[in-house]
Amino acid sequence: MKFDTPAKANPIDKGRVVGIPHDRIDGAAKVTGTAPYAYERHDAAPNAAYGWIVGSAIAKGRIAAMDLRAAEAAPGVLGIVTHANAGKLTKGNMNTAHLLGGPQIEHFEQAVALVVADTLENARAAAALVHIDYTPESGKFDLAAEAIRGVVPPDSFGTPADTSAGDFDGAFSRAAVKLEQRYTTPDHSHAMMEPHASIAAWNGDKLTLWTSNQMIAWTVGDVARTLGIPKANVRLISPYIGGGFGAKLFLRADALLAALGARQVGRPVKVALARPQIPNNTTHRPATIQRIRIGADRDGVIDAIAHEVWSGDLPGGSAETAAAQTRLLYRGANRMTAHRLTTLNLPEGNAMRAPGEAVGLLALEVAMDELAEMCGVDPVELRIRNDVQFDPEAGPQRPFSSRKLVECLRAGADRFGWNRRIPKPGQVRDGRWLVGMGMASAFRNNLAGKSGARIGIDAQGRVVVETDMTDIGTGSYTIIAQTAAEMLGVPLEQVTVRLGDSRFPVSAGSGGQWGANSSTAGVYAAAMALRAKLAEAAGYPVDAAGFEDGLIRNGNESRKLAALAGDTGLWAEDSMEYGDLDKRYAQATFGAHFCEVGVDTDTAEVRIRRMGGAFAAGRILNPKSARSQVIGAMTMGAGAALMEALDVDTRFGFFVNHDMAEYLVPVHADIPQQDVLFIDELDDKSSPMKAKGVGELGICGAGAAVANAIYNAAGLRVRDYPITIDKLLRAQMA
Ligand code: MOS
Repeated sequence: MKFDTPAKANPIDKGRVVGIPHDRIDGAAKVTGTAPYAYERHDAAPNAAYGWIVGSAIAKGRIAAMDLRAAEAAPGVLGIVTHANAGKLTKGNMNTAHLLGGPQIEHFEQAVALVVADTLENARAAAALVHIDYTPESGKFDLAAEAIRGVVPPDSFGTPADTSAGDFDGAFSRAAVKLEQRYTTPDHSHAMMEPHASIAAWNGDKLTLWTSNQMIAWTVGDVARTLGIPKANVRLISPYIGGGFGAKLFLRADALLAALGARQVGRPVKVALARPQIPNNTTHRPATIQRIRIGADRDGVIDAIAHEVWSGDLPGGSAETAAAQTRLLYRGANRMTAHRLTTLNLPEGNAMRAPGEAVGLLALEVAMDELAEMCGVDPVELRIRNDVQFDPEAGPQRPFSSRKLVECLRAGADRFGWNRRIPKPGQVRDGRWLVGMGMASAFRNNLAGKSGARIGIDAQGRVVVETDMTDIGTGSYTIIAQTAAEMLGVPLEQVTVRLGDSRFPVSAGSGGQWGANSSTAGVYAAAMALRAKLAEAAGYPVDAAGFEDGLIRNGNESRKLAALAGDTGLWAEDSMEYGDLDKRYAQATFGAHFCEVGVDTDTAEVRIRRMGGAFAAGRILNPKSARSQVIGAMTMGAGAALMEALDVDTRFGFFVNHDMAEYLVPVHADIPQQDVLFIDELDDKSSPMKAKGVGELGICGAGAAVANAIYNAAGLRVRDYPITIDKLLRAQMA
């Protein structure tokens, strides 16, 4: 099915099941420990051996010699995979560095060996006996020092690195009010709960991988490419995933090395990355340096806006597209954005939790707060004055498909009690605490991708949906079941959803907050095909047929779906493909974040007191799971503002704080109150679901609201994230 004209009224609009805050249908399995995660499939590979990854102890250089003798002789050892015995491996399309390094070393903790043994303990103990001599080379590890050498990176998802409209320099120089500031964000680690984990089993030349992966088809492709085997010989199974956050978009070392280990020792092998291996072995969100210039009139109306971003990655890597939102969020005829990418020999940088906007808004929305103060305009009002209902780079001929930023700002401010804020910093005290409020706009791109599904109904009237879509904790099972139930007029309890298996039709997968809208649109397409088959079986014209209460109706006549399905059942498969509506219309999601903090007058400790936000992201398919997505994302925003940072050892080129004791993320006690309001919106240009993404929107801007609240509380402006006590004390003394 092709989606190339705006959606008309359709079966989803009934809103009988879709749009209901239904509990997760996989919830009980998860909380009772019966949902099998990748490393737990004991039933699938009962005799699995255990692999332990040995990571490189240098960031750049070569392996001069490997001595495996002591490790091979250790108790329980079954085999050791290295570059010398792994056979030819071709780098995956989605990987920047090789997943098995050697003799060349591309980054610290790059896998250089997999020790396979009968138990985890034996594998780990033997791994410590692998002796490697390295010939190190000097590398580049310091973004601040290297940024100057940045070059124009390749397009990211079809978007160029640089954009411009009008005459920024001229307009900026003439502006009555000029803001120019520099902001930095550090490297971030995904820190999802479930580590990278896989079990590999070979049956002849056929490989099965039980793994934890967001994008099944991409990863099947890269497993096949890396091993040089046909895609048809690779099966990926990833039914439950304990968080992805972008870390599991691609094939990683756990899956590849499990496959290599299993091939070498002739039995299934399971490999998980230990937490301290993850930040350096896998990927991270690259650090950024950002420069923002805004020229406005005295009322704060923007005429010129520029956002430049510097980041680094390994050779062949990608830039952090932190200026993305600045292309679309605010008015101004004169504008430019630019990204520069420099080579760093740190571990691979890649997508993490709303790549681009998550850190871009940490800069832009603080800059807007600073501009509001310079102009003496309320920060909410400043944003309303600068709203634009079309793509400001392209002009009015490219309107937004839907854009309710102003509605979010107004409703969010109202609900939060924004009118109680005192604009002048440092005015409100509560005991030891200086208390303040801050806000920020939320913006995240909306992408839709081709997504397929098959759907069947049996003689009992049970509906089964199969798609390789993944549920990374987001609620995919539930919204897909809701979609199928709505389309076929059956109760939700009658729908079984099977996900995360490469034998199922290829979906859009989980990434970039495109999963919910895209995957349910694919189910919509398949359900339309099944409705046509059921109508044909009933002898009814499909356009006149109604589906409800397990029946197909035509006027006064009706037939039971279960009877039409018969003993063989009826199946249909289709996918949703997209035309150029995303070119004719700018598509994005919007919101407004509000935060209240306390700053300790003596110690500068920051405590978030409450966060609230209003969001417009098309049809909200399930308000309960969507709310969970948004409060989780707001929490990530708070983490970026106050805690999260990988500390780089710029001498040796690795992330020092590589575990959950030293890489800090917020917990429940850090944010006592979170409130989420969804603004009603149907986007008929996004898909027949009229939904957009919501998973990443909540992170975008949340951290800036925290930073702005700190400024309002204590008058301290820290532009280098995270805003830690040491930086606040330094700002206090300045
Ligand atoms: Mo997301 S960072 O595209 O999983």
